[in-house]
Amino acid sequence: MSRAERKKDHINYALASGVQQTNSFDDVHFVHNSLPETSVSNVDLSVKIGELSLSSPIIINAMTGGGGNETEVINSRLAAAANNTGIAMAVGSQMAALKDSNEQSTYETVRKHHKDGVIFANLGSELTIDEAKQAVEMLQADALQIHLNVIQELVMPEGDRDFTGALDRIRAVTEAINVPVIVKEVGFGLSGEVVRKLKDSGITTIDTGGNGGTNFASIENERRTAPFQFFNEWGISTVTSIVESVDEDTSLSIIGSGGIRNGADVAKAIALGADAGGMAGNVLAAVQQGGQAGAEQFIERCLRELSMIMAAVGAENITDLKRAPLVITGSSREWLKERGID
Ligand code: FNR
Repeated sequence: MSRAERKKDHINYALASGVQQTNSFDDVHFVHNSLPETSVSNVDLSVKIGELSLSSPIIINAMTGGGGNETEVINSRLAAAANNTGIAMAVGSQMAALKDSNEQSTYETVRKHHKDGVIFANLGSELTIDEAKQAVEMLQADALQIHLNVIQELVMPEGDRDFTGALDRIRAVTEAINVPVIVKEVGFGLSGEVVRKLKDSGITTIDTGGNGGTNFASIENERRTAPFQFFNEWGISTVTSIVESVDEDTSLSIIGSGGIRNGADVAKAIALGADAGGMAGNVLAAVQQGGQAGAEQFIERCLRELSMIMAAVGAENITDLKRAPLVITGSSREWLKERGID
């Protein structure tokens, strides 16, 4: 199967698997504040992720590109929606365009439609310094996401089997390029141990990519005849991945992602210690159902929900929201206790 066909398969299976109704965010509860002493109009959503200034803490996370006209249309619509709502957007892995220059337009359309916006380039950890520079250059990207997708590769029959040298390559790229690097998972969650290794290698921004949303083990298992069902349940939830990351180092910039469904989940991710929330599968569903307008309405609703919740807990900015009191229950609580984090 060609890379382009695989990309289309991923989109179709991700859409078919639908929005996960319950996930670790259901274990997180804000403590109600009857005296918030602020108003919705005082809420400021702007945030800094390392050296990047964002007008709000919602990011369209990496999905597509490379796959011809179909992915170009999706990327154009997503980028126009990101532009009109002023949010940052990541593209899907650019390896397709580095291997075949005909695919470049499926990514370049994102810069065309999000002219002055914040855009993240994206490559896997097999990248070289040269590829990293080309990927950033292609989009005049503001940052480079490097994704870690061991489980997805293992479940894919044609996937990688050798995962050596990733950390060295990430370190080398981080030192060599002139935009910030964001290391991200794709739905299996970064553990505290991995975050420590990344931090020791000079990484200052991570994206948790926890489980609870798009599940690449089940997507790949759907596509193969002898599935590795075991990996469908694999991974660290987004809630516990955020808490493990914060516990490792409070000075890291953290994008909480994996299963974010709405503005309330973004608010919870931030109150747990993230600086922003990334959404992939649910934005894809919105754009596929309602085109650019559908994606835009979905993002606007998430931003409104976030502002409402911030006002409810008396948080006028993202720093205040990070301090909002929370209670963590259920299996997230149990996981954190087992891991020695209270
Ligand atoms: C993805 N994701 C992804 N991530 C990445 O770093 N590079 C990529 O090329 C892709 N491709 C991709 C395609 C499709 C169709 C989807 C739905 C997702 C993973 C994505 O960025 C995110 O980490 C996970 O999907 C988890 O977030 P959600 O979907 O639960 O919000």
